[in-house]
Amino acid sequence: MPETTPGTVLGHEAVGTVQELGASVTTVAVGDRVLLSCVSACGRCRFCKEGRYGQCLGGGGWIFGHTIDGLQAEYARVPFADNSVYKVPDELSDEQVLFLADILPTSYEVGVLNGMVTPGDVVAIVGAGPIGLAAILTARLYTPGRIVAIDLDDSRLESAVRFGADTTINNGREDALTQVMELTDGLGADVAFEAVGVPQTFELATELIRPCGRVANIGVHGAPATLHLVKLWIRDVTITTGLVDTYTIPRLMKLVASGRLDPTIFATHRFALGDTMAAYDTFADAATTGALKVVLEGRERDLASNGRVAACLVAGAV
Ligand SMILES: NC(=O)c1ccc[n+]([C@@H]2O[C@H](COP(=O)([O-])OP(=O)(O)OC[C@H]3O[C@@H](n4cnc5c(N)ncnc54)[C@H](O)[C@@H]3O)[C@@H](O)[C@H]2O)c1
Ligand SMILES: [Zn+2]
Repeated sequence: MPETTPGTVLGHEAVGTVQELGASVTTVAVGDRVLLSCVSACGRCRFCKEGRYGQCLGGGGWIFGHTIDGLQAEYARVPFADNSVYKVPDELSDEQVLFLADILPTSYEVGVLNGMVTPGDVVAIVGAGPIGLAAILTARLYTPGRIVAIDLDDSRLESAVRFGADTTINNGREDALTQVMELTDGLGADVAFEAVGVPQTFELATELIRPCGRVANIGVHGAPATLHLVKLWIRDVTITTGLVDTYTIPRLMKLVASGRLDPTIFATHRFALGDTMAAYDTFADAATTGALKVVLEGRERDLASNGRVAACLVAGAV
């Protein structure tokens, strides 16, 4: 991200305990254990009033580890705390809610809800990294007819099966379009998620869907992709894009509490905060280590509590 300056503390997923409150914070108390959303919300601008926190005009949006110091630290200052943190019920562990800071709401909001997944749908997911896997978990809440996971990496496809994919396609070896057409009587998937962020996978997602189908683009793109309107205009397709808003965190937390959603399977590795470099190496070498999400643990009892801070980190994610 070119706007992030060297020296910025990274990280935008964390659970922590409130240590100190700013003067205008009224709904959060010292000692509360809270989930910090990856997106902050001023709560007052037109987009926040519509629940579109990602587009906040009042100083919120994706700011942690981007335009302000982030959450891979013992302490973090949390702007707009009233609107941007979520109290964690006592019965839920840090790791049960940690992935609700970003990946679960991202795949649910930008993938499943934007893509309007309906019972019986064939859902094709291009990319089976944490975002594609979270899309599998949250699409399953809607009882799709079949979930097809597509990736170049066999270990990611094995994870996809553990998360609930019915069919996997390695598109390095097999032709994903032919396979999906064979599975759908030549029509195509009802909905495809793009969960990689490169031109080829976006273009593949648009090819995989049936007439009147939907493509929900989740990937963050760094290069232009071609929109093949010559083929697409006549097929009545819908293509959506989006930055996560995290307005579904309370809903997802209830599903975790009721046992209908278990995001703990994402946590493949755990490191102390002091071993952050080893954590990053493990995450970067996912092909060898099998890493999905790496949890960094800061121990509350080791932290001094006299700083001017709003939250102390108990667990953060890489
Ligand atoms: N829209 C949002 O708000 C939002 C939020 C978070 C993440 N994202 C984006 O979602 C995307 C996925 O995130 P992630 O953490 O799962 O990333 P990741 O890099 O861990 O996973 C991407 C997966 O795609 C696979 N892949 C790469 N090239 C492929 C190809 N040509 N065909 C099929 N599979 C291919 C990789 O093997 C990998 O398993 C990223 O672009 C990320 O920035 C978007
Ligand atoms: Zn706002």
